[in-house]
Amino acid sequence: FHVQRFENEPNTDFSRAENREDMKQALKDVEALFGADYPLNIDGKAQDSRSHIISRSPSSKETVLGTVASANRDQAEQAIETARRAWPQWQKIPADHRAEYLELIASGMQTRRFELAAWMIHESGKSWKEADAEVSEAIDFCRYYSLAMRDLVSELACDYPGEENRLFYRSRGVAVVIAPWNFPLAILTGMTVAALVTGNTVVMKPAEQSSIVAAKLMEIARDSGLPTGVLNFLPGNGEELGPVLVGSPDVDLVVFTGSQEVGLSINKLAAETVPAQLNVKKVIAEMGGKNAIIVDDDADLDDAVQGVVNSAFGYAGQKCSACSRVIVLKSIFDEFTERLVNAVESLVIGPADDPGIDFGPVIDQEAYDRINDYIELGAEECETIVSIDLSDRDDGYFIGPQIFNILEEDSRLAQAEIFGPVLSVMKARDMDHALKLANNTAYALTGGVYSRSPKNLKRAREEFLVGNLYLNREITGAIVQRHPFGGFRMSGIGSKAGGPDYLQQFMLPVNITENT
Ligand code: NAD
Ligand code: ALA
Repeated sequence: FHVQRFENEPNTDFSRAENREDMKQALKDVEALFGADYPLNIDGKAQDSRSHIISRSPSSKETVLGTVASANRDQAEQAIETARRAWPQWQKIPADHRAEYLELIASGMQTRRFELAAWMIHESGKSWKEADAEVSEAIDFCRYYSLAMRDLVSELACDYPGEENRLFYRSRGVAVVIAPWNFPLAILTGMTVAALVTGNTVVMKPAEQSSIVAAKLMEIARDSGLPTGVLNFLPGNGEELGPVLVGSPDVDLVVFTGSQEVGLSINKLAAETVPAQLNVKKVIAEMGGKNAIIVDDDADLDDAVQGVVNSAFGYAGQKCSACSRVIVLKSIFDEFTERLVNAVESLVIGPADDPGIDFGPVIDQEAYDRINDYIELGAEECETIVSIDLSDRDDGYFIGPQIFNILEEDSRLAQAEIFGPVLSVMKARDMDHALKLANNTAYALTGGVYSRSPKNLKRAREEFLVGNLYLNREITGAIVQRHPFGGFRMSGIGSKAGGPDYLQQFMLPVNITENT
């Protein structure tokens, strides 16, 4: 198997002075590019639009990073038509040749890794470490799917006397990729290159908040020499473009990552068919989480505190995988909470380009307001354990860490995906109760258990209902191939990104039987 040759791209070692210098230089170089305009790209041609997305730095609201053309409905239709026209040729190109484009895209990212990280620091408010790890993940997606596709080329034989059977895969057609802002490079890349390598043509719709990072990906993909029309870049407003893209009878596959609300609406619209339509659309939708970590009464509390802090507050809690509930066995509740408070009070929050921060701002005004509403709700519904007020830091969207003690397990704070630096603590009577609390959510994405008890770890493996369960470690930072990523219940439909059966869902299995 080709995938056996896969190796993860290493992250940058920022303890080395030369790497720190390179990152500082990249931040400066990128700063010199602030204010540029980025067009759409349809059928290999740059296109402007009447309206534009103004991209601002969440660390410094007044800083305009650039403007990105915001596509209108006609341009969305043009992009779909283009992808439809390009598909017959693209799907005929041998799969291993298509896989080479992914390797070229990976190399392009490797060459520009500091620059890409710098854009994510500026546009998405990622810390140096998070931004750098994301470039590695994007490279990994390209290389892993490239190798995985090479393995899928060979037909599967299952012959019987007098009968030859061959199972193989065809591409589906036109894929619309709709991405979130919180992994602006890795998730957009992963969904897009998976669609491309499997022989589909693509309309790529990034999140408004991370349109420049997406434009950089488009530059790299274009430089790989992809044939015209195979990949079309359509930044713009999701509410406006979504219905055109998802509703079009000319689209065969919708690949979405984002909120539950939008994911479910896409799933519903995609299920509607019109008489001339050839395919029932396939939807792959990765959605949110309300992830919990259980801390058992025999857990190593130093590890548990560190793991919970990293999982809850890394990137200001803006990861679908983030820990937003920590469920602590009652006999250690007070000790754990005291240590957690000490750790959280020493976190450093500041502008993302500062290498000394633990986490930066939240993404935009809407997120800032929504998270602050939850914080107010928490103060009413729950007991406040930590509330670090950064409201005087109004240069950027900074919110200090918040911890609430949940008094009512069905309260909104205990149930809603907040997507910010807000952690709820819950007290459990025993492991039965802890697992019941952990599973008492509509979601099933990530979860964790800190315990030294083999019996309780075994129970968690069997009873904790999540797509990615982590034992005695943090619950964020899935690595391609090692931790295939994705959930079920209201966290998503589709197979795991970076896993062995991700690509198959982008294709149609066909079996041919010949009477011999
Ligand atoms: P979002 O749902 O608001 O937006 C995601 C994308 O959908 C954007 O490109 C947006 O423009 C587009 N969109 C908005 N309305 C649309 C519509 N009506 N039709 C079609 N497209 C539409 O999500 P977000 O705020 O960008 O991202 C955060 C969410 O993503 C969180 O819920 C998080 O848990 C989830 N997420 C999940 C995963 C995962 O792998 N499960 C990974 C990352 C993020
Ligand atoms: N794949 C990302 C993580 O595991 C969301 O944190």
